[in-house]
Amino acid sequence: MRTDPATPSKGTPTDAELGIDVRPIAGVIGAEIHGVDLAHPLDASIVAAIRDTLLKWKVVFFRDQHISQAQHLAFARAFGEPTPAHPTLPAMFADFPEILQLDNQVHARVDAPNIESRWHTDVTFLPAPPMASILRGVVVPSYGGDTQFANLVMAYETLSAPLQALCDTLHAVHLNALPISRGEMSSELRGQFMSREIRAVHPVVRVHPETGERALFVNHNFTDYIVELSRRESRHLLAMLYEHMSDASLTCRFRWEPGSIAFWDNRATAHMAPTDTPRGMHRSMERITLKGDLTVGPDGFIGRALESTTA
Ligand code: SIN
Repeated sequence: MRTDPATPSKGTPTDAELGIDVRPIAGVIGAEIHGVDLAHPLDASIVAAIRDTLLKWKVVFFRDQHISQAQHLAFARAFGEPTPAHPTLPAMFADFPEILQLDNQVHARVDAPNIESRWHTDVTFLPAPPMASILRGVVVPSYGGDTQFANLVMAYETLSAPLQALCDTLHAVHLNALPISRGEMSSELRGQFMSREIRAVHPVVRVHPETGERALFVNHNFTDYIVELSRRESRHLLAMLYEHMSDASLTCRFRWEPGSIAFWDNRATAHMAPTDTPRGMHRSMERITLKGDLTVGPDGFIGRALESTTA
């Protein structure tokens, strides 16, 4: 990792020398990066600068990048190895099995277009969840439909010391069962999502493999229960942590425009898809996730798959 991009180590070009302009959009998370053109292969120094900005701001945004699926994939490959689109959902594009389509005209019920949305980190029911996700706005509504992001390192750091110490010792089971009521999602999509049960156990606090920072690593979509607690204690502690990590002071909100791209560090953030896309307006996004590491806790615990009870 480079040092602070504003004062890089000797020999490393500054953002200004690279022509990059980093514009934070909120106090502790989120920065727009201007001055790069994602339609072309990126120089290694630009890739390093983007990665450093990602590690610092947790989610970075690009504007006016009217790129193709192939260019989206090439950009993703500059930062890691793309995964298949999703562990259970079908890939919608034969030529791009790495691209997951998230389209409100394809996936939502016509009479209930806004399924309940919860803060989550992507695909944490796998033992090695993606390191990052890169979301491209393909069709964006003219208003509404923003995505929110939360900084899970700050969420950990703003807990009191006794709670940090408790969370450092805990582990949680994650499961691919969306906590939504049956009517909210088409039964076909719901069936595909949960077609086979996938479980993993992760530390409640994850040590970031690149920065060494500690991040809260539970989320409302996929965390089932905390192993060391009674189910009632687990429910209450998780509810408290979810409320804490979504405090507005730890979040940013991204307004999509045609050509916008969001790139988040999935090891240090949670995000929430919008529920306010105006009825009848089309919103279509395409997401590529990058292969991640097994999670590691402060106690050295390494995340692992759990045997499914239904497979
Ligand atoms: C996601 O949850 O990965 C997509 C977020 C969005 O559609 O804004």
